[in-house]
Amino acid sequence: MTLFEALKHLHMGCAFLSIAGFTLRGYWMLTGSPLLRRRYSKVLPHIIDTLLLASAVGMLLIWHMSPLQSGWLIAKIIALLVYIGLGMVALRFGKSRKTRVNAWLLALLAAAYIVSVAYSKSPWGFLQNLFG
Ligand code: HEM
Repeated sequence: MTLFEALKHLHMGCAFLSIAGFTLRGYWMLTGSPLLRRRYSKVLPHIIDTLLLASAVGMLLIWHMSPLQSGWLIAKIIALLVYIGLGMVALRFGKSRKTRVNAWLLALLAAAYIVSVAYSKSPWGFLQNLFG
């Protein structure tokens, strides 16, 4: 296995864990579970997301490429910021339950878009199938 392949496996594994973990924490938010306030449910996501980004940077270093050179990478970064922002509203800053639930659902939609951009290598992602 090349270093690139190892980084890509790490990246995909962390992407899966990040989205699965966020889905689970959203469920805990909905059910008012005390598990949401456990230490590991606050610390683990940071470790996973750091590895997710570090592996992305590693792949780009191997490619000698800046993410600003391609449309699908720019789209991924912008959508990642949206995913993080909505996630913070869903799990922390949302005042009402309705706001938090809506932010959680929109964040999951942003995550689905990121994955579709990753596989299609196009900034349109799954939107291509809707409008293409
Ligand atoms: C929540 C955030 C992210 C998720 C869910 C995600 C998901 C994925 C997935 C599933 C793949 C594998 C696609 C394939 O098999 O071709 C992938 C590949 C990749 N991702 Fe991400 N990614 C995320 C963020 C990022 C960011 C922020 C960057 C860089 C700025 C990035 C850069 C890359 C690169 C360079 C590849 C390799 C593509 C290739 O081998 O052709 N990813 N990502």
